[in-house]
Amino acid sequence: MTHILEADISVELTKNSKLKDIDFNNLPFGKVFSDHMLLCQYKDGAWNAPKVVPYQPITLDPSAKIFHYGQSIFEGMKAYKDKDSNVFLFRPLENWKRFNISSKRLAIPEIPEAYFMEGLKALLKADKDWIPTAPGSALYIRPFVFASGNGFHASPSDEYLFIIATAPSGAYFSGKVTVAIEEKYSRSANGGVGYAKAGGNYAGQFYPTQLAIEKGYNQVVWTDDTSHEYIEEAGAMNIFVRINDTLITAPTSDRILDGITRKSLIEIAKAEGIEVDVRKLKVSELVEAAKNGSLKEMFGSGTAAVISPISGFGYQGTDYELPELETSYAKILKTRITDIQYNRTEDPFGWRVKI
Ligand code: PLP
Ligand code: COI
Repeated sequence: MTHILEADISVELTKNSKLKDIDFNNLPFGKVFSDHMLLCQYKDGAWNAPKVVPYQPITLDPSAKIFHYGQSIFEGMKAYKDKDSNVFLFRPLENWKRFNISSKRLAIPEIPEAYFMEGLKALLKADKDWIPTAPGSALYIRPFVFASGNGFHASPSDEYLFIIATAPSGAYFSGKVTVAIEEKYSRSANGGVGYAKAGGNYAGQFYPTQLAIEKGYNQVVWTDDTSHEYIEEAGAMNIFVRINDTLITAPTSDRILDGITRKSLIEIAKAEGIEVDVRKLKVSELVEAAKNGSLKEMFGSGTAAVISPISGFGYQGTDYELPELETSYAKILKTRITDIQYNRTEDPFGWRVKI
């Protein structure tokens, strides 16, 4: 690991803070940006020390490889503030590890732990006042890296920019979501980049998702690319299905993002005495369970979405509605995970990191 002291990270504070213009009680998701960003350049075979600078546009040559070959990956994290204004991250090393797993798959040079972690801490120190406290809000953190080197040759770039931008944000979805189970398009394939948080994975989802939205659904549930028989993910979320009292989620694979919320919920659910079955789930089993009443709930999980209950799904021209439950697993698990994230309870798992 490269050692770096916070003091080695240069900090240039803005002279024109936008803080006073923001309505922190009515925050959209990811549309309002904090005063500063972290900037780090890869050049001549090495990452240079990161800098905290005022949030600003970046200039790129039209031949920059990001535009042509899509060499880019990102992460999604949140900073949470408790009632005493202490700031916390949730399992941030998992994001750093996944950042580098994604980078490796896209032939992007990996970021040293200290550049990621200490850079993030320096940024959060500069923008502490941007972390919102209204219920359900948090500072959404978007670390990303992309090919900034020039040239039309289809080969990895020799220069990259690693940036962390942050956005005080409210809920990702307002209310319950309905999903269409995908029967034709695929988000990912064996041997592909589905397990990476690569920008292109999201671009490829937009068109099939638009088609689903035109039919009245909010999101697509991705199925496996070969048979479209198995449930995999839901948009930018992992997916959980409760049949009777068992919570089922697909095992991670080449095609599925190893969600940090997903793996945390699996552990929390087990600690709560909920039976969790990590296994492949056939769409036909889901449909059968919806018909015979054993399908109790479905929800998506993710950093942005937290836990998003699904109220119904469409498959082969038929819509299936889920029951309204008094005490849902989604509600119990959301309370448990957010209580840990916002420092409202003990953290028996050791996931919370104070900044
Ligand atoms: N699956 C996809 C495709 C995602 O984009 C995300 C969002 O990050 C997730 C799952 C959930 O992952 P995490 O819980 O780590 O945010
Ligand atoms: C996240 O949950 O952090 C994500 O990356 C989802 C994003 C595509 C909005």
